[in-house]
Amino acid sequence: MICEIVLATSNRHKVKEIESILKDLSIEIVPMTSFASYPIIIEDGKTLEENASKKAREVAIFFRKWAIADDSGIEVDYLNGNPGVHSARYAGEKCSSYENNNKLLEALKNVPQEKRTAKFKTVIAISNPKGKTLLLDGEIFGTIRSCAGTNGFGYDNIFYIPEYERTLAELSFEIKNSISHRSKALQKAKKVIKKLISFSGK
Ligand code: IMP
Repeated sequence: MICEIVLATSNRHKVKEIESILKDLSIEIVPMTSFASYPIIIEDGKTLEENASKKAREVAIFFRKWAIADDSGIEVDYLNGNPGVHSARYAGEKCSSYENNNKLLEALKNVPQEKRTAKFKTVIAISNPKGKTLLLDGEIFGTIRSCAGTNGFGYDNIFYIPEYERTLAELSFEIKNSISHRSKALQKAKKVIKKLISFSGK
């Protein structure tokens, strides 16, 4: 029986986005940070898929509950897909988003706008209490521009969406959540979770 899913992230921005996108499911979404203790997971995978699976599986086994995890990365064509899986630590261990964004802008300093194409990718992993895991992904395409906007988090203020003529950080929470990499992956996850709910007779 599936009546709650633990969210395997301590990133409050991700928690807010994921809760909002999954809010119409008839199960409870419980951030792992709301428990007295939760596992600290080392994200040492070579791919977003490996990291997302590891997070969902370890959290599911720890709590003996269903768990959902997200691993995301920005892939810049001119940089051969980097920083990709290394996006969180692009400017070094424990670096800030500001440092990551500056490093990326610096790496593209003399690159013309038409060659600054990039995609943001999210991999969502859903794990059952025994650690059996399913993966779903979503992508959004854009270009890297100088900082604009104050909404969102991470690379949002340098990720420009041509269709909207705005960076993700200039879009409202609702619009980002309707078009983002995370939203696309979670729409697929939602279908899976709905099936699990109907199988468990809820
Ligand atoms: P992770 O998925 O938490 O490992 O995130 C990888 C990196 O991408 C971190 O630097 C995050 O801040 C950043 N990031 C993750 N999701 C988003 C997003 O939706 N917008 C902008 N940056 C993000």
